Amino acid sequence: MCGIVGYIGNREKKEILINGLRELEYRGYDSAGIAVLKNNEIESFKATGKLTNLEEKTKEFTSIGYGIGIGHTRWATHGKPTEINAHPHAGSCSYVVHNGIIENYREIKKYLEEKGVIFLSQTDTEVIVHLFEDNLKTNCSTFAAFEKTVSELHGAFAVLLITAQEPDKIFFVKNSVPLIIAKNEENEIFFGSADAPLIGNATNAYYLEDGEYGFISQKELKLYNNRKEKLPKFKSLAQDKSYAQKDGFRFFMEKEIYEQSSVMTEALMGRVKENQILLDEIPDGFLNDINDIKICACGTSYHASLTAGYILERVAKIKTSVEIASEFRYKNPLLTKETLFVVVSQSGETADTLEALKIAKNAGLKTLSICNVDNSSIVRLANANILTRTGIEKGVASTKTFATQVAILWLFALFIAQHKKTIDQKTLQKEIDVVLSIPNVLKIENQTHEKIKRLSKRYLHGHGFFFIGRDIFYPLALEGALKLKEISYLHAEGYPAGEMKHGPIALVDSELFTIALLSKTTLFEKTKSNIEELSARDATILIISPEDFDIADDFVKTKYSDHQMREFFEMMVVTQLFALEVAIRLGNDVDMPRNLAKSVTVE
Ligand code: G6P
Repeated sequence: MCGIVGYIGNREKKEILINGLRELEYRGYDSAGIAVLKNNEIESFKATGKLTNLEEKTKEFTSIGYGIGIGHTRWATHGKPTEINAHPHAGSCSYVVHNGIIENYREIKKYLEEKGVIFLSQTDTEVIVHLFEDNLKTNCSTFAAFEKTVSELHGAFAVLLITAQEPDKIFFVKNSVPLIIAKNEENEIFFGSADAPLIGNATNAYYLEDGEYGFISQKELKLYNNRKEKLPKFKSLAQDKSYAQKDGFRFFMEKEIYEQSSVMTEALMGRVKENQILLDEIPDGFLNDINDIKICACGTSYHASLTAGYILERVAKIKTSVEIASEFRYKNPLLTKETLFVVVSQSGETADTLEALKIAKNAGLKTLSICNVDNSSIVRLANANILTRTGIEKGVASTKTFATQVAILWLFALFIAQHKKTIDQKTLQKEIDVVLSIPNVLKIENQTHEKIKRLSKRYLHGHGFFFIGRDIFYPLALEGALKLKEISYLHAEGYPAGEMKHGPIALVDSELFTIALLSKTTLFEKTKSNIEELSARDATILIISPEDFDIADDFVKTKYSDHQMREFFEMMVVTQLFALEVAIRLGNDVDMPRNLAKSVTVE
């Protein structure tokens, strides 16, 4: 995810900005840039790749003495990770950096292009600076032009803007994406999209709230919400950097579990309109002549794909098969051109998945990737790509990746259903309402986490875990078991609940832990009977369900819902927190479990 920094003061601006961006490197990025305004002139530098490339480009540039500056690290979402697409984006006298997504950028771009504005990049961000300069022509003050611009943007955004018209001010706005203003006793002013670049520089910080905008100079800070002036309350800033990078969480994995709600908002943004699914990444005619779908992936991405297999057949009425990439590669698969070949990968570099994609491409199939990293090998090779916009995931055990992959695959299924007209408008509307409710479902209540933390102490021994579920709760069981084994090193298996009686039930005794995903919307009675079969053989059972069940040894209550996907995402969070708390109690390195790598580029 992108990072933002800003500075007003006398020190060498390029150093403050680049050092600040370095503190945000943990968020992941593929290009970076800065713009510095000094003596009424703005100079801007951008580079792809690591910050050392930007340092190289700014080697000859100095900016000591009073001035202002903004900086950005970009994680590509709209447009390739190229230098042109890197921020800051420029108008004729102004520069802007932005995190988030401008949902109505197409409409704004069209409006401005009709007025003769020429766009250089493929980004949504560039519209901000041109719209601002367009508004400058008709508004009496720079701030009025900025305020009007802010009111015309839809979506999620944190923005810093500087303009030669007002050489001592930084204009800012925050909506659904974090942005912090900080200062110190020397009257230096700093901006950051997280605490880390501010720590060590500033002493007090104000965490902007959604809808707030304004401007700041060394003389004044003006803050507004809905055109009403507000008084900011600065707080003293925490001083522990590594704590700040984890947003105060114990591990990156925990932080990533908690950020799933906001990441999901980004993943869905611009892709769901009131009554339709919009996937601009799928070219016109791409789905014509497609009879069936084959999905290939590894690890967590494979579990997300298995989930999609159910949804694609049920909602889009299209035959779907899902295979582990390393198996697919060597089976001399029979492939036909009417099959759409989909690969799912967080990194876009997994060797087995990449090779599977090559096999399909060489056989002349249309290919699509669902991937998190733009310009990765898989993205470069596939005919079309839908980016999951998950941002960097530091925890080796995937959490938010799984959530966004499932959501994007679900959107894709709805998109096909819309295209093939296998869904009526009323059902589609209901699905869209549910999709839009998922960020809320992913918010974690303190009492749920506390309960899981408490009960985890009873699950640190035993001779194994079975995670069981039916339908889409079966791939979720597989993923829950994978999470637990990855970070706790305890033996765990995911199993279809109805299949336990065909063998695994022989293992059952009181030292065998069963984690049962008991959905109320999907095959409730059937799953219940399967749990009873295990209880009768004295298994220790933790049930995750909206419905109380007296044979449970432990119980985590989820909310009642009328849609299985809401239950799915809520139960997903419970299984993630369960794995996390067990691993923490066992004293393991949650973020870097033994023997595992985040990206596996060998066979
Ligand atoms: C590795 C990681 C897993 C991941 C799998 C597939 O095994 O440890 O977390 O699910 O690779 O990676 P991909 O980047 O293709 O999703």
